[in-house]
Amino acid sequence: MKTKKVSKAVFPVAGLGTRFLPATKSIPKEIMTLVDRPLIQYAIDEARAAGIKEFIFVTSRGKSALEDYFDHAPELESELRRKGKTELLDILKDTNMDSGAIAYVRQNRPMGLGHAVWCARRLIGNEPFAVLLPDDVIAAEKPCLAQMVEAYEQTGGNMVAAMEVPPAKASSYGVLDIAEDMGAIVKAKGMVEKPKAEEAPSNLAVIGRYILSPSVLTKLNRMKQGVGGEIQLTDAIAEEIGSKDGGVYGYRFRGQRYDCGSKAGFLQATVAFGMARPDLRDEFTAYLHNTIAQQKAAQ
Ligand code: G1P
Repeated sequence: MKTKKVSKAVFPVAGLGTRFLPATKSIPKEIMTLVDRPLIQYAIDEARAAGIKEFIFVTSRGKSALEDYFDHAPELESELRRKGKTELLDILKDTNMDSGAIAYVRQNRPMGLGHAVWCARRLIGNEPFAVLLPDDVIAAEKPCLAQMVEAYEQTGGNMVAAMEVPPAKASSYGVLDIAEDMGAIVKAKGMVEKPKAEEAPSNLAVIGRYILSPSVLTKLNRMKQGVGGEIQLTDAIAEEIGSKDGGVYGYRFRGQRYDCGSKAGFLQATVAFGMARPDLRDEFTAYLHNTIAQQKAAQ
């Protein structure tokens, strides 16, 4: 199928991060560190690996640390250069964004994820775009969004990352109603945001990666409130189902997703990413084994 290239991505980062208070009193949640990199860096790297060239951040008050993070740090860089610390300079290089590649738009009231994406409408224009929720960190051999771009080239329309969850957890997610299950790709006939457990159409949940048609923005224009009184992205995507130029597909990605919007998920990700790092693996894994063995012995 001939699809337009997906070159823009939206990162909704306006949330207050109250689940991580007091840490988030003075730092944005997205700057919180997984091993030694802020959460947002993982999402940016994933987007880059999928061919994204323009990065749109939907921010709010108190998020200026994010803008600084992606800027050059001339004093730090010249100090490292003077000391010959080239490895550290290389690490810093990955955090710099080219001028014009990154744009910030403010969501001045917390009106929901759909509203946050709508705030970026003028920057997105009339082309397909990706949305990445940085709270969802996905460890995968081939990064999740790159997997989705490949699948999207077959389907067109709209594509959401999807994952089976225990039925009792479905009410924490957007959930797909499946019309046709083709394995990795699923065609949806419905999509519900945070359904009651007994009303969930399936246990195939939406995870925070989307490739969307610009017509979703037109649906968002109506500012229809959904569950929790918020303007839901899920509702606008659901309106695309059955539309002549696309429809909605779920994509069962290969990889492990961590919910870094919750403390337990953040800790799990920290352990997994720590154990996966060649420079930390041996020491950290040995520590974990010892700690568990000591705990067992004490029981
Ligand atoms: C958002 C979406 C939801 C999706 C989830 C994935 O919800 O609204 O459809 O399943 O992200 O993490 P939130 O977790 O922001 O409440």
